[in-house]
Amino acid sequence: MIRAPRTQHGAAGHATLRVGLAAPREYAMRLDESTLIGSGANAEVYAYGDGRALKLFRERSPFHANEMLAARAAAEAGLPTPRVWGDDLIEVDDREGIVFDRVDGITMHQHVEENPDDAKASGRALAELHARMHACDGRGLHSLRWGLMQSIPRARALGPETQDAVVSILYSLPEEPSMCHNDLHPLNVLRVGDSWVIIDWAGGLRGNRLAGHARSWLLSRYWMDTLGSSAPHTWRRFWCAYLDTYRELAPVASEELRAWQTVIVAVGVTWDKTVPDPETRVEFVEASLAGRSHRWLSDGERE
Ligand SMILES: Nc1ncnc2c1ncn2[C@@H]1O[C@H](COP(=O)(O)OP(=O)(O)O)[C@@H](O)[C@H]1O
Ligand SMILES: [Mg+2]
Repeated sequence: MIRAPRTQHGAAGHATLRVGLAAPREYAMRLDESTLIGSGANAEVYAYGDGRALKLFRERSPFHANEMLAARAAAEAGLPTPRVWGDDLIEVDDREGIVFDRVDGITMHQHVEENPDDAKASGRALAELHARMHACDGRGLHSLRWGLMQSIPRARALGPETQDAVVSILYSLPEEPSMCHNDLHPLNVLRVGDSWVIIDWAGGLRGNRLAGHARSWLLSRYWMDTLGSSAPHTWRRFWCAYLDTYRELAPVASEELRAWQTVIVAVGVTWDKTVPDPETRVEFVEASLAGRSHRWLSDGERE
């Protein structure tokens, strides 16, 4: 679910709103390069009227309704996240979209790249956000265990025996009602003044907080090989601060975490199609099941 920010954006052209969140005339507007404010792996985001942003998805998916549900629940729980407008997805030229409050800020990724001295403090901030989120009640959300269960059979590179072993581990782990984001990384956090705002709740589900933490741990492993590879020391400082701080704020039983890491890496074979090197994920799962260590388990240098 991560992809480097793109410099060339595919714009929606001069789109017209057909169905609207009460799409009143005053909000019918240009959606093109002049109003584009961001883009990610799944969507372009446009300035949309007074203080609002339209997230316009490239493909239709049931996850978009989930994003709306989870983003609203997170805002209602008091987490720093843009408010959702309207009760349903809107449609613009056959593309689904969600209207949010607009956040005028840069991503945490850009902030750290431009201010390497802030890497440690930013990593701590990510952990604080995550621990705070996990303390929120996620009972209004769909089940993370169910979502993981759907994904394991699709991780074909694992082979049937390994898939069965991962399913058994998943069922041995306790379900909890924490609010989990499942894609918390530096491109999904925006900086506003000195504060941070969480976006992109497509994977917002109710589950065990260690699954959510294991997911960010897996993203940290990807960062070292992909987006953070041009400044490895900076990103190592960032992710060490994240991992240490989260574990300080929300103590982690190492055996249980290892079990969640195994499940989450297995699911990452399915979820993270845009991330290179799926072989390392398969190798990690196999090492875990055999009780062997793996290079991903070393958190690297500390400061
Ligand atoms: N509410 C918002 N206000 C301002 N910019 C936003 C908002 N939501 C998203 N963006 C911008 O769009 C980018 C992609 O948004 P995101 O929700 O992460 O999409 P994706 O699901 O494709 O990853 C963000 O990194 C940010 O730059
Ligand atoms: Mg995103």
